[in-house]
Amino acid sequence: MTQDELKALVGQAALHYVVPGEIVGVGTGSTVNKFIEALARMKDQIKGAVSSSEATTQRLKALGIPVFDCNEVGELSVYIDGADEIDAQGHMVKGGGAALTREKIVAAQSRQFVCIADESKLVKTLGAFPLPVEVIPMATARVMRQFGAMGGLAQIRQKDGHPLVTDNGQLIVDVTGLHIADPLAFETQVSQWPGVVTVGVFAHQKAHVCLLGTASGVKTLTF
Ligand code: 5RP
Repeated sequence: MTQDELKALVGQAALHYVVPGEIVGVGTGSTVNKFIEALARMKDQIKGAVSSSEATTQRLKALGIPVFDCNEVGELSVYIDGADEIDAQGHMVKGGGAALTREKIVAAQSRQFVCIADESKLVKTLGAFPLPVEVIPMATARVMRQFGAMGGLAQIRQKDGHPLVTDNGQLIVDVTGLHIADPLAFETQVSQWPGVVTVGVFAHQKAHVCLLGTASGVKTLTF
């Protein structure tokens, strides 16, 4: 099975967690795009969605799924999103699509986080994927030095030859060379650095369930 087929498989499997008549939290990325395609086929059975990025909002609206603002709705029963890495406890690295801040907000507003991923995303220890961190522009040099002092190598993410600007008007710093042995402590620490908007470690908002696409089908991990 190709990676694309594995993504479609878990995108379809995630429909099982969508509660009819309710609003569902929707993440961002190529795996979530498969989920959105599947969700569109049952759009008449849900009230709508809360989106984690402008890209997802556009996609949902184009398929006729109503999109609600976080502030208009209360707690969501479920948030469906992908990950760049997930460990055996459900801690994740996210933000490969630069949407980590809104993703963490919608995850925090949801009772259950269902992560959908192909099996290449399952890791023993977080850190091999460059860690995305959303940073206020005036703080980037200092934040990058702080990661340097931790043994990491930080770079400002570029797009089309310019620094990528997030949906929130901020920058993304990607950090390689980290070995995140204690995701909860790491997230707590980095979140306190002045100028850091969001760190892409999701330990406080970890997954409750992971639908992992494997060659032999969907494997359900619960944490
Ligand atoms: C976007 C994310 C995505 O969930 C993550 O990058 C995985 O994306 P994909 O499903 O395309 O591999 O965190 O900010």
